[in-house]
Amino acid sequence: MTLILAPAVIQVAGVVIVGAIFIQSVFLIVSSFRRLAIEREQRRVTLDSLRYQAEMATAESKKEGERTTLSWSGHRKFEVQRKVKEVEGVHSFYLAPHDGKPLPPFLPGQYLTFQLRIPDQPKPVIRCYSLSDSPNNPDCYRVSIKKIPPPPDKPDGQPGVSSTYFNDILQEGDILDVKAPSGQFFLDMTSDLPIVFIGGGIGLTPVLSMLSALTESGIKREVWFFLGVRNGKEHLMKEQLEALNQANENLRLHVCYSDPQKGDEKGRDYQHSGHVSVDLFKELLPSNNYTFYICGPPPMMEFLTGGLKEWGVPDDDVHFEAFGPATVKKTKAEAPEAGEAAAVEVIFDRSGKTLKWDGGAESLLDFAEDNGIVIDSGCRAGNCGTCVVAVKSGEVNYLTDPGATPEEGSCLTCVAVPKTALTLDA
Ligand SMILES: Cc1cc2nc3c(=O)[nH]c(=O)nc-3n(C[C@H](O)[C@H](O)[C@H](O)COP(=O)(O)OP(=O)(O)OC[C@H]3O[C@@H](n4cnc5c(N)ncnc54)[C@H](O)[C@@H]3O)c2cc1C
Ligand code: FES
Repeated sequence: MTLILAPAVIQVAGVVIVGAIFIQSVFLIVSSFRRLAIEREQRRVTLDSLRYQAEMATAESKKEGERTTLSWSGHRKFEVQRKVKEVEGVHSFYLAPHDGKPLPPFLPGQYLTFQLRIPDQPKPVIRCYSLSDSPNNPDCYRVSIKKIPPPPDKPDGQPGVSSTYFNDILQEGDILDVKAPSGQFFLDMTSDLPIVFIGGGIGLTPVLSMLSALTESGIKREVWFFLGVRNGKEHLMKEQLEALNQANENLRLHVCYSDPQKGDEKGRDYQHSGHVSVDLFKELLPSNNYTFYICGPPPMMEFLTGGLKEWGVPDDDVHFEAFGPATVKKTKAEAPEAGEAAAVEVIFDRSGKTLKWDGGAESLLDFAEDNGIVIDSGCRAGNCGTCVVAVKSGEVNYLTDPGATPEEGSCLTCVAVPKTALTLDA
């Protein structure tokens, strides 16, 4: 049977088919335009990123040249040009080189090592302090130092030796012996990945320097800054942070007060009640795809590094530094694993002690001290070289790259653990 269609039906069918072909063609044209536009945008973003990285690499290599030519070995004399009270118990010190020659730019996040001659101290006291300002000032460096009070369980005990000296005794015009900037916790200026900076209390110092460097470079890199303090009385560098917030349109500044006091106003002085936390990041950040730089007291560091791990942030994207001696310095993430070094023998030759290393101590220096063996120490961060000990036999592993290179056949005990059985000249 042959189906005969009326001409009108054929006409309608024709219009529908032509219409469908037309719509499909328009759709194809629009989607290929869209694809081309997306590809063009992707190429532009890639080119911008490459251009940015090339510019930053050129600028950084110029700075690296200056660092090499202007740096110094051993100690250099610095004069305290200005001593400025930041908040109660914290002063900033502006240090100018006594020889009047220009200073090398440092990597934002690095620290200075001081050798202090403090009255009543039998030996020079060695301590590290992070550079807290922009790395681009050839005339002076700034460090900001918090006076460490006696431990809470011994309120009549001694406050921190060096931090008390800086805050209570040191005056403008005094001279200090200082080693060149060093340290591995610094901002990679050549990357264009978005960043989250986190500073807890005085731990703000290195991340503030990083933020200053970034803002001065004028680069458009997404950056979040979280500051955690107890309340307005401890709100460090408030004006400087607010000025950076004005100057850097890509910055989102969030201040958390864990214990706000009368007179502290939410919205004006701080944005969040409570501690800086990963829950807060989850609430504010669009994803976990950031590079994190953290410096703060040990409980904060442990809490945040653990939380970021749980949130799926890769270890390589979490950089941190803890202040203080080894007892408070290392977080779990840095602690050596029992693993290969477990149960090896460590002979402290001079002290006549043979001990079993079971992976429990955080470093050879701690291990020695726990067993009544005295090794001089200073920074306890692998920079000053004070804790160096000759290795008579065996090998060590380093927990972090030492800032000071130990001589052949010796090790920096504050950042070393045994790799094999060891005999140390201590
Ligand atoms: C890389 C690095 C950078 C640093 N940057 C800064 C900085 O920018 N500003 C700053 O103020 N400090 C900074 N520090 C800490 C500083 O080096 C000293 O450890 C701190 O000033 C205490 O020294 P002290 O001689 O006053 O105390 P000490 O006399 O050595 O110690 C006194 C008591 O306080 C305890 N204690 C020491 N340090 C701390 C601490 N940080 N937290 C809690 N308890 C502690 C000790 O266990 C001891 O019981 C940094 C440390 C390192 C390793
Ligand atoms: S104490 Fe400074 S390097 Fe070990």
